[in-house]
Amino acid sequence: KPLVVAIDGPSGTGKSSVSKAVAKQLGLAYLDTGAMYRALAWSCLDVAIDFDDGSAVAEHSRTFDLRMGMDPAAPTVAVGTRRIDREIREDAVTSVVSRVATNLDVRADMLTRQRALIAEGVQHSGGVVAEGRDITTVVAPDADVRILMTASEEARMARRSRQLRVSAESTRSQIIDRDRTDSTVSQFTTAADGVVTVDTSHIDFRQSVAAVLHVVKE
Ligand code: CDP
Repeated sequence: KPLVVAIDGPSGTGKSSVSKAVAKQLGLAYLDTGAMYRALAWSCLDVAIDFDDGSAVAEHSRTFDLRMGMDPAAPTVAVGTRRIDREIREDAVTSVVSRVATNLDVRADMLTRQRALIAEGVQHSGGVVAEGRDITTVVAPDADVRILMTASEEARMARRSRQLRVSAESTRSQIIDRDRTDSTVSQFTTAADGVVTVDTSHIDFRQSVAAVLHVVKE
C-alpha cells in the first residue's frame, strides 16, 4: 500500500534533513517543495524577469522546465539540463523566493506540479515524503501521515545560523521577514486538524527522525 507522508514547518526546525532521512529509511521518494519555489526564483533571476510583474512571473512558472530528482540519498534540482542545487541556496535566491511564493497563480501552478511529482513517487517508489509549508493543508491534505515540525524561535535561529555560518542576528531578521511574508499565503505554524505536531526545540536530529518514524508507524 503506497505511503504519502506530508511534513510542514518553518525554517530551522530540521524539516528538510529529517524528511530526507525518513524517506531514506522507509525507501520512499523525497520531495522538497521549497526547492521548487527556489528554482523558480533562480530562473526568474536568470532570465531577468521583473519580480513586480506578477503575470510574467506566473507565466514563467507555467512554462519553465523544472526537473526534480526525488532520490532522498541525492535529491536534485535542474532547469532543463542545468543543475542548480547549489545556486538555489544562495542569498540572492533566498531574499526573493517569498516574492514568487506569494504569487497565487504561481502557487496554483506549483500545486499541479507537486501533485504530479507525488503521484510519480507513489508509482515508482511506493510512496513519498513531501515537505514544505502547505503540504499537510493544500497539496496533500489526504496524506496517510501529516506532521507539523515546530521549534522555538530560539532553536530555529540557532540552527539556521549554524547552517549558513552567519551571525544569529542577520539570520534572525531575514527569517522573521520571510516567515511574515510567507504567512500571508500559507499557514504553517499551527497544526491543522488531524496533523501531528513534532516539536524539535529540545531534541537533536536523530531524535527528530525517530519521532517522525514513530508517528508514521502509529
Ligand atoms: O530555507 P527554508 O528551509 O526556510 O525554506 P524552503 O523550504 O527552502 O522554502 C523556501 C521558500 O519557498 C519559503 O520561504 C516559502 O516562501 C516558499 N515555500 C512555499 O511557499 N510553500 C512551500 N510548500 C514550500 C516553500
